[in-house]
Amino acid sequence: HGRVQNICCIGAGYVGGPTCAVIANKNPHLKVTVVDLSQPRIDAWNSPHLPIYEPGLQEIVELARDGSADRKPNLFFSTDVDAAIAEADLVFVSVNTPTKVSGTGAGFASELSYVESAIRKIAEVATTDKIVVEKSTVPVRTADSMREILSAIGKPGVRFEVLSNPEFLAEGTAIPDLLTPDRILIGSLVNESGLSAASALANVYAGWVPRDRIITMNLWSSELAKLAANALLAQRISSINALSAICEATGADVEEIAFACGTDTRIGSKMLRASVGFGGSCFKKDILSLTYISETLHLPEVAAYWRSVVDINEYQKDRFTNRIITCLYNSLTNKKIAVLGFSYKKDTGDTRESAAISIIKNLAGERAKISIYDPKVEERQIWQDLQGYGNVSSVAGAGSVKDFVTVENNVYDACADAHAIIILTEWDEFSNKAIAKPTAAQANKPTNGHASTNPRMDWSRVADTMKRPMFVFDGRNVVDARALEELGFRVECIGKPGTNWAKERMLQAQTGKGASPV
Ligand code: NAD
Ligand code: UDX
Repeated sequence: HGRVQNICCIGAGYVGGPTCAVIANKNPHLKVTVVDLSQPRIDAWNSPHLPIYEPGLQEIVELARDGSADRKPNLFFSTDVDAAIAEADLVFVSVNTPTKVSGTGAGFASELSYVESAIRKIAEVATTDKIVVEKSTVPVRTADSMREILSAIGKPGVRFEVLSNPEFLAEGTAIPDLLTPDRILIGSLVNESGLSAASALANVYAGWVPRDRIITMNLWSSELAKLAANALLAQRISSINALSAICEATGADVEEIAFACGTDTRIGSKMLRASVGFGGSCFKKDILSLTYISETLHLPEVAAYWRSVVDINEYQKDRFTNRIITCLYNSLTNKKIAVLGFSYKKDTGDTRESAAISIIKNLAGERAKISIYDPKVEERQIWQDLQGYGNVSSVAGAGSVKDFVTVENNVYDACADAHAIIILTEWDEFSNKAIAKPTAAQANKPTNGHASTNPRMDWSRVADTMKRPMFVFDGRNVVDARALEELGFRVECIGKPGTNWAKERMLQAQTGKGASPV
């Protein structure tokens, strides 16, 4: 398969767009064309307003897409799928693989129809040999089906080689993740043609990634490694979240637990932040896919094990809502609740599987008046998510979602007259903690100067406008609770004893009537 000169990527989403922008940026000699069926998405990629928000993305796209004095444009976005496939030597398939919503495996298995239609398109259009690369996250052995379809439909004499090259970027940090990846994984058949294709793809990454970080292995290991990595990462979050429940009941502090355990180098400190529950388009979907694969392989115990990671996550979201209801005297009817943050994590406008969606649905069921502020999520996206989520309006017994939800474009309007503030995304602007001086490495990380630099909110200004008693439920442990208590807030954090609890304990200590905490 020799050297790659012309790349096509099918799917201009959160993965296809940023990944190809970096590939093009770092390989000025390559022509990279990203195609999609969605005309509005492609138009946005060709405009100054990219369809996704990702710190550092804009500059990377603009340099490759628009060129400069000393480089020609080499990144193109188009809806002409056929033309881009026809001229490519290597085609990334980076389409969505969501959880199936109906039919066999509904609610667990991956929906592979988008992958299959992309593969059929490649087979129909190709008149020259192609390396076809699975970039989408797929069930183990999907490459088998791809090879079969390609050879059944492909024109005589046209050869296809299928590689697996899963993507490990996380949203919000996609650009630094792509620029300095922990590893690039390439899976191929272990024969001459498979290895030669793998080496051609490795050469593309070698444009900026050190060779020792480019790992090659067999196809099936590579496919399964992607599901495994996400399952292991999500499992850590469910583990710390399960511990957070024990902390809340005993007076231990989950941040101290994470620190104490994370300093053990065998455990490591990352992905141990207790939270209101993980969200995002990948973790839940990929664990459910792994669960389904285990079931189809007749491994019910294995399926139950992975399934429990998702179960704990659902439990964590419900537990948080229940704590809010209990603290607000078991009635939310007509109480204004300010929700700060709607995206599933900071530094992204993506809301897929955001914990905010199910928590707002729960609060709506209690007939609260919810007022939402998020620095990056577009208002129409919020309406779409709330409408689409099990029909919130019928849960609330109100006419329309707009009868009990408002979307504000600043934190102060969201919080005015509220009984409680609920922090659901860890955006920096919600924090009142002392700002840590950035390390040299952090200071050098690219940012595009948007949301991450929004000023911190003024908590004392908010306090002046709220109903008494004022509550803060911090689903991300971004606030310094003691400082807020000095302003008169009652603060409840994940995995820490609440204000009431702390006062009760103090009283018990003073009167000597200490009871066992459990
Ligand atoms: P996405 O929904 O943002 O983008 C997918 C794009 O593919 C959409 O724009 C859609 O219109 C397009 N598409 C679908 N079928 C098509 C076809 N036949 N022809 C042309 N275009 C088509 O999805 P994403 O978040 O970029 O995820 C893509 C894949 O990467 C998924 O398998 C996902 O699991 C995996 N992944 C995602 C992330 C992440 O952070 N989002 C990280 C790693 C891996
Ligand atoms: C994840 C994987 O990290 C990435 O490698 C893969 O390619 C795609 O899926 P992403 O979902 O974008 O990336 O973000 P991630 O940072 O992993 O966070 C996922 C969710 O877990 C978010 O809701 C985040 O807030 C939450 N989280 C993360 C925690 O609750 N605690 C943590 O310690 C880390």
